[in-house]
Amino acid sequence: MSVYGHEFVGFRDGWRGPLEGETMPLEISSVRGILPRGGTILGSSRTNPIKIEGGVDRIKANLAEYGVDALIAIGGEDTLGVAKQLYDRDVKVVGVPKTIDNDLNATDYTFGFDTAVNIATEAIDRLHTTAESHHRALICEVMGRHAGWIALHAGMAGGANVILIPEKPFDIDKVCEYVESRFKIRYSPIIVVAEGAHPLEGQMALQTGELDSFGHVRLGGIGEMLAQEIEKRTGKEARTTVLGHVQRGGTPSAYDRVLATRFGLHAIDAVNDGDFGKMVALRGTDIVRARLEEATAELKTVPVSRYEEAEVFFG
Ligand code: F6P
Repeated sequence: MSVYGHEFVGFRDGWRGPLEGETMPLEISSVRGILPRGGTILGSSRTNPIKIEGGVDRIKANLAEYGVDALIAIGGEDTLGVAKQLYDRDVKVVGVPKTIDNDLNATDYTFGFDTAVNIATEAIDRLHTTAESHHRALICEVMGRHAGWIALHAGMAGGANVILIPEKPFDIDKVCEYVESRFKIRYSPIIVVAEGAHPLEGQMALQTGELDSFGHVRLGGIGEMLAQEIEKRTGKEARTTVLGHVQRGGTPSAYDRVLATRFGLHAIDAVNDGDFGKMVALRGTDIVRARLEEATAELKTVPVSRYEEAEVFFG
């Protein structure tokens, strides 16, 4: 593939590719038809070359060997954090923000987020039906270890009765009040919880792996623990659905396809301009360039004001 006369080569599996010199051709023919595909044709890994002895030098040597003048790194906080450190060590790099978590600073949205929110929203819509048929409290656990963006957006879009996010420790007494008040008006509550959400200190003696009063084995994360606690305190049956990696699969939304395509074009422009150490970013409807340092210095978490908007609809 050639844009501005540049040639493209893909590195496989995140930072493992440049580290081990594993590439794949990125011709027009290899990317044709991938718009409706989720995931990545390049593959991904959690390899962090900064933590590997001599990792940065190996990457530099491999880039030189393949005649690579500039690297475009596509990913979230981990990937772009490494990109920033490589830039500090004279690697010519431009970043593209891609994570379902939407927690990268300096950009309004990352691509992948909209798709994940749509998947979670559809799941919540379906849970409403079953919650009402069975008169159960249903908990939907979504991804988000440090930031509650998916929970906030999918919870609002899906009309959740309570949304719990990592940014704000929740009060289990209050959650149970919402659950009970919902049952009183003959509706079944839906609780959306981000995987990183946690109760106020001292609340909920969490236990897993035991049989509850309804005979279900309680295993796993915060969603299961919450169900156990709600049953114990309210006497109502509570069940949990953990969406997990379903949120990262399937076909991307139209919004994400357009955003990813625009980010890609602007990243190539940045390389062509020799404007390195930057991440392409969405501000309003414009694509701008932000410093990688700004993008990765801290996580973009859900502001209090955004959570308060959602709280208006709780209960
Ligand atoms: O960074 C995206 C993310 O999906 C998080 O929300 C989630 O906690 C994590 O990745 C899961 O990572 P893995 O697939 O490595 O278990």
